[in-house]
Amino acid sequence: MKTVFDKTDFLIIGGGVAGLRAAIEVAPHGSVLVLTKDKPAESSTGYAQGGIAVALSDEDEVGIHYEDTIKAGDGLCREDAVRILVEEGPEVILELISWGAEFDKEGRRLAFTQEAAHSRRRILHAHGDSTGRELERALVSKVRTFSDVRRYDFAFTVDLIIEDGRCVGALVLRDKEVIPIYAKAVILATGGGGQVYSRTTNPPVTAGDGMAIAYRAGAVLEDMEFIQFHPTTLYSPSAPQFLLSEAMRGEGAILKNINGERFMPDYHSMSELASRDIVARAIISEMVKTNARHVYLDLRHLDKDFVRRRFPRIYSTCLQFDIDITEDLIPVSPAAHYFMGGVKTDLEGQTTVKGLFAAGEVACTGVHGANRLASNSLLEGLVYGARTGMAAVNWGMGNGEWGLEKYKSHKLKSANWNIDIEKIRSSLRRIMWDKAGIIRCKESLTEATEWLKQWNFTLREGVFGRKELELKNMLTIANLIVDSALLREGSIGAHYRSDFKERGESWQRHILCQEGREIKWTE
Ligand code: SIN
Repeated sequence: MKTVFDKTDFLIIGGGVAGLRAAIEVAPHGSVLVLTKDKPAESSTGYAQGGIAVALSDEDEVGIHYEDTIKAGDGLCREDAVRILVEEGPEVILELISWGAEFDKEGRRLAFTQEAAHSRRRILHAHGDSTGRELERALVSKVRTFSDVRRYDFAFTVDLIIEDGRCVGALVLRDKEVIPIYAKAVILATGGGGQVYSRTTNPPVTAGDGMAIAYRAGAVLEDMEFIQFHPTTLYSPSAPQFLLSEAMRGEGAILKNINGERFMPDYHSMSELASRDIVARAIISEMVKTNARHVYLDLRHLDKDFVRRRFPRIYSTCLQFDIDITEDLIPVSPAAHYFMGGVKTDLEGQTTVKGLFAAGEVACTGVHGANRLASNSLLEGLVYGARTGMAAVNWGMGNGEWGLEKYKSHKLKSANWNIDIEKIRSSLRRIMWDKAGIIRCKESLTEATEWLKQWNFTLREGVFGRKELELKNMLTIANLIVDSALLREGSIGAHYRSDFKERGESWQRHILCQEGREIKWTE
């Protein structure tokens, strides 16, 4: 029978760590529907290697984790949000272990590794370098213990349904059919938008859809200029842009230019363990100096058995491309990795639109400021996924309503234009990488704006298919990144302007974007 519309108490868009953790929180209170854009495991969580930061070791304290996070955020973290992250972190990890998550151990004790800008070894990991997968496995098996949780896979969210300023559901594309799904509370957990850059560690699903649909629904987005670039992804024409975890440098790997010279000590006293923005820019500078497209990561001096045991997934993946990480230099270059900005929320995940909540990378809780401390994102997904779930329960059981059901399902007509979507997508990604990437300036950003204007015009109207809708979302967030990066005339955290190398006058403020309004600074 044809579905006219669907109904659930809680609609969760996204099935990574934040979405699953939120689902566990809301499930005892009503019916839940979790949407994933692709197959269930296809989210950034499943690709997370290095681990999850938490102050649980004997030599660590939450206060030190707090200080490291604030320092990495370069003065722009929201302090109360960071305090919640580090204080609630140990509890959510122990809870996850009680649900069956297995982290690596040394003897009977949890094993902690080191990553850049952490002043303690505090990163938990699982199966060496498959931490995200283990988190997902444990969360999915916990979600399965609730009877009233449904899941739609390959479901693309076209738009949110807004009635009287409240979010009451979403229009969702499945098998060419757009189905309205009404909900008392909607939680966005769609991850980031790395695909807007031609080099990215993110899986293909991360097109910034959640940020774009929230923007169209009137929500405020914050600090879209802060994109973190991971210094080390595999660089080989025949291989995918595979992440080479920072934990490799934490365990002693070093960076060399193509002439075989170690260079990081010339850039920073922390050498390879300086913060990601510093290492990424140093790599770019060495690539320019040596006229090369990559530098090398070198683990050859480390014990081979240790390397194979500690990084089994990276070892076997590189081997598929004829690189033995215990014996060969690994060609690497930086890639877009994480959005610090996103849909603005309060400490409970409430966005500026009633009934709409957000958690994980799509959200901007303020914990990461201008630069995220490595391995804080999975922790944020757990801590704020749970808090957001709780807030959605309070809203849904109090003010939440199902809406007027004015939308009915309809077939999506296929787009009938002479527009080469793949070409625009690829050009967009290249322009963003070249003009609004690791190093930006007014001239490069203005050039990007000109390209974006053309594509905005091309895609301004028409009947859209899924690919076109996704491209439109990418274009929306590309515009917001470029506009915010132009406005911030200064260099702070991951945002580096070669024409304004100092922090700039307004550095302590945030940038807000809302559809139909001028992009503006916070007071
Ligand atoms: C990595 O393993 O290097 C990525 C971890 C993170 O981005 O937090």
